[in-house]
Amino acid sequence: MKEAVIDKDTGVTIRDVDIPTPQPGQVLIKVVVSGTNPKDWKLPVWLSDAPPANQGDDIAGFVEAVGEGVSKFRKGDKVAAFHEMMTPAGSYAEYAIAWEHTTFHIPEKTSFEEAASIPLAAMTSALGLFQRLSLPVPWHPATEALPLVVYGGASAVGAFAIKLAHLSNIHPIIAVAGKGAPFVETLIDRSKGDTIIDYREGDNAVREKIRSCAGGLPIHHAFDAVSEKGSYQNLGEALTAPAKITVVLPGKDYSDLPKGVEAITTNVGAVHQSPGPGQTLGDIEFGAAFFAFFGRGLAQGWFTGHPVEVRPRGLAGLEGALRDLREGKASAVKYVVRVADTPNL
Ligand SMILES: NC(=O)c1ccc[n+]([C@@H]2O[C@H](COP(=O)([O-])OP(=O)(O)OC[C@H]3O[C@@H](n4cnc5c(N)ncnc54)[C@H](OP(=O)(O)O)[C@@H]3O)[C@@H](O)[C@H]2O)c1
Repeated sequence: MKEAVIDKDTGVTIRDVDIPTPQPGQVLIKVVVSGTNPKDWKLPVWLSDAPPANQGDDIAGFVEAVGEGVSKFRKGDKVAAFHEMMTPAGSYAEYAIAWEHTTFHIPEKTSFEEAASIPLAAMTSALGLFQRLSLPVPWHPATEALPLVVYGGASAVGAFAIKLAHLSNIHPIIAVAGKGAPFVETLIDRSKGDTIIDYREGDNAVREKIRSCAGGLPIHHAFDAVSEKGSYQNLGEALTAPAKITVVLPGKDYSDLPKGVEAITTNVGAVHQSPGPGQTLGDIEFGAAFFAFFGRGLAQGWFTGHPVEVRPRGLAGLEGALRDLREGKASAVKYVVRVADTPNL
């Protein structure tokens, strides 16, 4: 089969490799559409000594085969899945591997393109809101005002955070967005006090407006889907201690926050990691529950994917897509590729 690998200069090479074999607990998926993520160009830069790798993690397609012990899926099922990051057999290929607990059924009416926009980004949002910020889950929603800032409201992670917060009746949502503000407008509920702040007005304006947007209520929670360009510093100044900000760029030093404002890193890879010492249940179980939840939401109509742009030429179009991501051109959109569009497949 064909597989695309990404190098540290965001160059893409398509090569021939064997179709992977699902191990116990794994699902082999024929990839119809793959999503892209910022990490797909970032990891090759951070791990510049490593050989180019298939970085794709967002899979939408049909189950081709299942490994021993897999009971929820069988050949032909229409699914989306989150491939385990930094492992072989990613979604930039004709076939990809995912674990059963990070795979979910998608309904007939949902396009593969929409489905491919969901796994990595939406799980990051869910993990950040519910596991890291300990905010109320949708089946036990907030019963009183609970201000939440979502910094980067037009990003895939930020937009899913807004959608999930909405399901949990978390309001007012104060979204920070720029060019993507018209899209964010479609996600918020002004009647519940939600609002949008334009980061292009500068740090002082952003800090001032965040403070004044919560209708006099202190703000103790923020989801920072940007975690750079001054975002968490602005949040640090605008929130009221004790406050928690979940940040999404691991390995950074967030210690320059005011006293009482804590930065907690969300790393979506946690849904693939074994529980820590003394823990028997944790992020893996959370992930398993929420992936199924996303599938149910698609089927019942209360959950949707991120807007997508289908990049031409399938796997061969990845280079342009990842370069555009690297250059910050994506606004309120997830780039996806249809594998069948790849020339000479
Ligand atoms: N730790 C993890 O597990 C994890 C998981 C997923 C993603 N991430 C990271 O999270 C970040 C977002 O990922 P993504 O896939 O959601 O990206 P994305 O959708 O490609 O993000 C693009 C959006 O970022 C917004 N943006 C850029 N600078 C901004 C600023 N200063 N203030 C507010 N919004 C700004 C833009 O908003 P406008 O269009 O409004 O200008 C644009 O719509 C990336 O850095 C990614 O690497 C981490």
